[in-house]
Amino acid sequence: MPADIHAERILVLDFGSQYAQLIARRVREAGCYCEIYPCDAEDERIRAFAPRGVILSGGPESATSEAHPGVPEAVLELDIPVLGICYGMQALARRFGAAVHAGKRREFGHAVLQRRSDHALLDALGNGAEASVWMSHGDHVETVPDGFAVLASTENVPIAAIAHESRPWFGLQFHPEVTHTPGGQRLLESFVREQCRCHGLWSPAAIVEDRIAAVRAQVGGDGVVLALSGGVDSSVVAALLARAVGEQLTCIFVDNGLLRLHEADQVMAACGELGVRVRRIDAQDRFLDALAGVAEPEEKRRVIGREFVHVFQEEAQQLANVRWLAQGTIYPDVIESAAAATNKAHLIKSHHNVGGLPETLHLQLVEPLRELFKDEVREVGRLLGLSAERIGRHPFPGPGLAVRILGEVRREYADLLRAADHIFLEELRAWDLYDRVAQAFVVFLPVRAVGVMGDGRRYDYVVSLRAVETQDFMTAQWARLPSEFLERCARRIINEVDGIARVCYDISSKPPATVEWE
Ligand code: XMP
Repeated sequence: MPADIHAERILVLDFGSQYAQLIARRVREAGCYCEIYPCDAEDERIRAFAPRGVILSGGPESATSEAHPGVPEAVLELDIPVLGICYGMQALARRFGAAVHAGKRREFGHAVLQRRSDHALLDALGNGAEASVWMSHGDHVETVPDGFAVLASTENVPIAAIAHESRPWFGLQFHPEVTHTPGGQRLLESFVREQCRCHGLWSPAAIVEDRIAAVRAQVGGDGVVLALSGGVDSSVVAALLARAVGEQLTCIFVDNGLLRLHEADQVMAACGELGVRVRRIDAQDRFLDALAGVAEPEEKRRVIGREFVHVFQEEAQQLANVRWLAQGTIYPDVIESAAAATNKAHLIKSHHNVGGLPETLHLQLVEPLRELFKDEVREVGRLLGLSAERIGRHPFPGPGLAVRILGEVRREYADLLRAADHIFLEELRAWDLYDRVAQAFVVFLPVRAVGVMGDGRRYDYVVSLRAVETQDFMTAQWARLPSEFLERCARRIINEVDGIARVCYDISSKPPATVEWE
C-alpha cells in the first residue's frame, strides 16, 4: 500500500494574485500537496480541507480600505501555521489592529532585507544580517499588529516581515515564491517542512504510484477510451493508463489533416514504444470537406469541434465494454474553469480541446492528472518513460493548423504551411533555440506577393514566422531570435517550398495580439 500522498496538505488562499499558482507550485516542490481556494471560501470548506498550514497570497485589493477582503476566521481558529505574503500579510496585520498605509509610489524590484530579530523562518534566506528579496507592492504595514514582533525591515518598509509572539503566524511583505528572491524557495520549504511539519510525501515517484493505484480502483475491470492528441498531457495520461490498466485502454488518434508534418507517424511511434494501443483514424478528407468555404475563426473552431465529436463518437461506439473516458485535464484547467464560472470576462477565442466531449457518450470521466501542475505532469511523464522530446514539446492548439491558416482552410494551404513550419522547427532545433522559446510556428497568409528567383518572376504566398517567450501564455513577448537565424529560415523556406515567395517575422506581443493569429 503506497503512502497517502494527500495526508499532509497546505491551503493557498488566493486574494487575486498573479502569483497564487506559483506559490502552490513552490509548495508542491517543497514536497507537500496543496490546493488553491478563493479568499472568500466558506469556513466549512476550509475546515474540511484539513490543512496543516495556510498561505495567504498577494492581491490587487488595498487593505487600507474598510471593505478589504479579510483573513477567514476559520484559518485563525484552526490554530495552524499561517503565512501571509504581501497583501496576505497586510490583511493579517489589519486583523490584529495594525494600520496599513498606501505608499507614495509602488515599490517593484529588488530590496535589501535587514534582520531585526532572530527567527528560524528567515534563516532560510541566508546567515547574514541582510538578504536580497523581491518586492511588488503599493501599500505597507505601518504599525506593529497586536501580539506580533517585527522580524525584518527594508529601507522603504520598516515592517517587512512579522511573526506572532506565541502562535505560528507570519507575514512577509516581499515575495518568496519568485525566483528573484534568492532564498525564497528555501524559506517556503522551511515554512512547509518545519512550521507545518510536512514530511515530503508529495514526490514525483509517489505521485505515479498513487495515480496508478487510483486509476485501478476507479475503473476496475472496465474498458477506457482516450482521445490522444499527442500533446504532453494526453500522452502522459496514455502512458499512465497503459501502466495502470494495460489492455483495458484504447486510444483514439484522429488525423484531421491539420497536423504538422510527420506528427501522426511520430505519435504512433511514441505510443508503440510505451506499449499504448492506439487506433489511428484518417479523417483528413472529412475535416477538410467540412471546413470548405468557412473563413470565420470561431466558425472554423466550431466545425472542427463538431467533427471531432462525431468521429470520436463513431469510433468509441465500436469498442466493447468501454465505460470510461480518460482526459488530460490538469490542475490549472480546474482552477481556471472554476474562475470562469464566476467571471464575466470577454470571450477572445474559444479554445477547443477534447475536454468538450458530450455527455451523450454515456461514459464516466477518469482524469488522473486533475491535481497536477504542468511541471508535475512532465515529471510524471519522464518517470513513465516518455522521451525528453515529447515532454518538452511546444503546445499545439486543438484546431491545429486551421488557426494558422488565415481565413478558409484549403489542403493546398495546409501542405505549404506544413512544409514551411517543418523547416522553421528543424532550424530552431539545429540552432538550439527550440527549448529557449515557449512556442514557435509558421502562419500562412493567403495573399500573394511578387518575388524574383533566378531570372524569373514569382508571384506566390506569404508566411509569417511566430515565436514567443512566456510562462503562462496569458501574456507573451515575441522572441528576439538572432537575425542570422531568421534569415536562414526565410532563405530555406523560399528556396525549398514551391509556392511561398515571402517570409515575415511577427513582432507582436500578447496583449494586444494573441499567440495564434486566429
Ligand atoms: P492565444 O492565441 O489564445 O494562445 O494567445 C494561447 C495558447 O493557447 C493555445 N491555443 C489553443 N489551444 N485549443 C487549444 O488546445 C485552441 O483552440 C487554442 N487556441 C490557442 C495557443 O497555441 C497558445 O499556446
